[in-house]
Amino acid sequence: MKGELSWMFPDGYTPLFLAPQAGVSESPFRRLCRKFGADVVSTEFVSADGILQGNPQTREHLIFHEDERPISIQIFGSNPQKMGEASALVTDLFQPDFIDINFGCPVKKIVKRNGGSGCLRDLDVVEKIIRSVVRSTHLPVSTKIRSGFDEPSRDPVTIGLRCQDSGSQMVILHARTRTDMYSGQARWDEIASLTDALDVPVVGNGDVYLGADARSMKETTGCAGIMIARGSHGSPWIFSQARAALDGQPIPDDPDVLHRFEICLEHARNGSRYETNPNKALRDFRKHLGWYTKGIPGGRNLRSQLFEALSFEQVEGLLNEYLDTVLDLTDGLEAFSG
Ligand SMILES: Cc1cc2nc3c(=O)[nH]c(=O)nc-3n(C[C@H](O)[C@H](O)[C@H](O)COP(=O)(O)O)c2cc1C
Repeated sequence: MKGELSWMFPDGYTPLFLAPQAGVSESPFRRLCRKFGADVVSTEFVSADGILQGNPQTREHLIFHEDERPISIQIFGSNPQKMGEASALVTDLFQPDFIDINFGCPVKKIVKRNGGSGCLRDLDVVEKIIRSVVRSTHLPVSTKIRSGFDEPSRDPVTIGLRCQDSGSQMVILHARTRTDMYSGQARWDEIASLTDALDVPVVGNGDVYLGADARSMKETTGCAGIMIARGSHGSPWIFSQARAALDGQPIPDDPDVLHRFEICLEHARNGSRYETNPNKALRDFRKHLGWYTKGIPGGRNLRSQLFEALSFEQVEGLLNEYLDTVLDLTDGLEAFSG
């Protein structure tokens, strides 16, 4: 019996999704976002070829912990049979809550081999891939699409309908074409049209940078769920802000520097505790460090020290040192003003 995805959308609840993001949505960050209210998280995209070859690097991307659930594993590839075999394998070995198929990646290397958004040039292939994946797993299957490959072929409704008809139980739309890459604005009107056209839930994605944006997206599109990628960079608390906005509650302020650093420290601790490959985890963490320290006093100096750190312990030490200095300064200022 095929699993369902309707549990994600009880009584009109609008779930918030942390977007799959290569080099960003790893276990330590997924945990943090779950804590701040992301209802569903995803692995970054993993290639069907890598899965079938038992590539150790690919395997690292597939590992998750029970308390990160609900979680999807996102796979990509252009060969329907291999995509089916890869989904059967991840189902057996990792048991995610659902499998998501990537039809959105715009990266040249992937598109050249007809993977990711490259598939959108031939919707028959899209259909074959989905049908093959659906046949090969008892888990629910979702698809993450862009609005089209390029402007002339832009037609998210036709793409979404083909996904639904092939067995996709949920369609996530990043409302840009592959040619757009990340430029311009995501066309939320297309999310609205897709929501109207499909029976399965549509998750809107693109340009939610603030809690209030989540509410605007919901109001203007009627989408069933909201996915956030770049808005979470250095701001995992965006999920609690988005939830408050959706509930019509006052939106909590961004945390101050001290609190932001505590969150960054927690992220670092997650990194040393939960990552299987500490060197890679530290490399991945550097970009988060850059985001967390953006715009703070002495940020540039701190960043250059942090980027040299060789372990999470060193990162923690440097952050604590900075915090102590800031605390001293704050105390000093308070004493002075008092
Ligand atoms: C660093 C980075 C990595 C990404 N990796 C993936 C990926 O592995 N799979 C995927 O479907 N989309 C990926 N995306 C696209 C995002 O999931 C999302 O669709 C896009 O960023 C638009 O959402 P946003 O406006 O909230 O950022 C990536 C985006 C970024 C910024």
